[in-house]
Amino acid sequence: MMRLLTFAALLVTVYSRDTFKGHQVLQITPKDEAQLAFLKELEDILELELDFWRRVTAVSCPVHVRVPFQFLQFLKPLMESKDISYFTMVDDLQAVLDEEQKEMELSACAQKPLNTESFNYSRYHTLSEIYSFQDMLAAENPNLVTNLVIGQSYKGRPLNVLKFSTGGTNRRAIWIDTGIHAREWITPASGIWFAKKIVTDYGRDPILTDILNSMDIFLEIVINPDGYEYTHSTNRLWRKNRKLNPRTNCVGVDLNRNWDSGFGTRGASSNPCSETYHGPRAHSESEVKSIMDFVKTHGNIKAFISIHSYSQLLMYPYGYTRNPAKDQAELDRLARKAVTDLGSLYGTHYRYGSIISTIYQSSGGSIDWAYDQGIKYSYTFELRDTGRHGFLLPSSQIVPTSEETWLALRTIMDHTLKDPY
Ligand SMILES: *[C@@H]1O[C@H](CO)[C@@H](O)[C@H](O)[C@H]1NC(C)=O
Ligand SMILES: [Zn+2]
Repeated sequence: MMRLLTFAALLVTVYSRDTFKGHQVLQITPKDEAQLAFLKELEDILELELDFWRRVTAVSCPVHVRVPFQFLQFLKPLMESKDISYFTMVDDLQAVLDEEQKEMELSACAQKPLNTESFNYSRYHTLSEIYSFQDMLAAENPNLVTNLVIGQSYKGRPLNVLKFSTGGTNRRAIWIDTGIHAREWITPASGIWFAKKIVTDYGRDPILTDILNSMDIFLEIVINPDGYEYTHSTNRLWRKNRKLNPRTNCVGVDLNRNWDSGFGTRGASSNPCSETYHGPRAHSESEVKSIMDFVKTHGNIKAFISIHSYSQLLMYPYGYTRNPAKDQAELDRLARKAVTDLGSLYGTHYRYGSIISTIYQSSGGSIDWAYDQGIKYSYTFELRDTGRHGFLLPSSQIVPTSEETWLALRTIMDHTLKDPY
């Protein structure tokens, strides 16, 4: 009986997942304005269900797009007739997802880690595993780590923030977040690794030790728990939160278009069916509002770092306007130093610059908001890779990605310590 029940449960998990059978990911590079215009048109036709992993930006800049099977048959000949060059980055998306799922299921059979020493940092984890990691880390390091709850997600899950502090009251602080976009799995995986790195290196690494002796670090590993859970249970490629939007079947708000920074202007969508839907009004989403309230109430956050994937970029404000940030020169110098340090470990190449000049106009983003609040050192990362695996970065790259990113983070934190404002 028990066995049958387990089998039935398994069937339910397997068959309730959205399938991407026959989907491919294409890289398309527009070579003139006409081709660019054609791709932009495609981007706006939501009915085609194209999923842009890398959006349309400019002539010569590659676009990455997931194309459902039924539309491939039509799109490829169409592009050929227009002499648009493309190649197939992922030939059989479902096969890649199956591989990843198999690995998750295998790990699910392993014994639950009893402490953060035996925790496997080289694999992706479910939401409940991340919650339990956070609890263990706080329990093991009572003098350094506190697990705060700053609010609740749309579905009522706790929004946890790890606070690393060696004392004092309301010290200057660094904010770091990962997992705002659900499918960017490498980011919470790196967040977990950073948390462990901080407790391991405090008292050993002189740079981190100096930082923590006068500042606090706040780390929110899963900003978007509902979305993250959904990428495990149902749709691996989900991006937004899971808010039910009124008067439509389309679910979710893009949490990185919902901030009060050029909210609702170019670079976000007012259509709830879009992947970049900005929501009904600025900070309408509790996942965003909780952070805003926390940061404002704290009042002494001096660096705000939000981590995404993929593309290998380090960017500073602005995304919503072409006006340069008033600290652009300093932010640019520090970005260059951070990406140089990042690349020193494995030679990973990062580009850097303001959001609008490096990728595209995007409004309502978190670091623009943070910067406009007076938090000078506001940065956003796009971690590995540049598209070979995209959001489906193999778990073997989690630790190397975390290690190299840590070097850049440490450089930004060290600068924040040494250049008080
Ligand atoms: C950790 O997870 C990876 C990926 O699933 C796996 O290859 C490796 O064997 C695991 N390590 C341990 C010690 O279980
Ligand atoms: Zn993202």
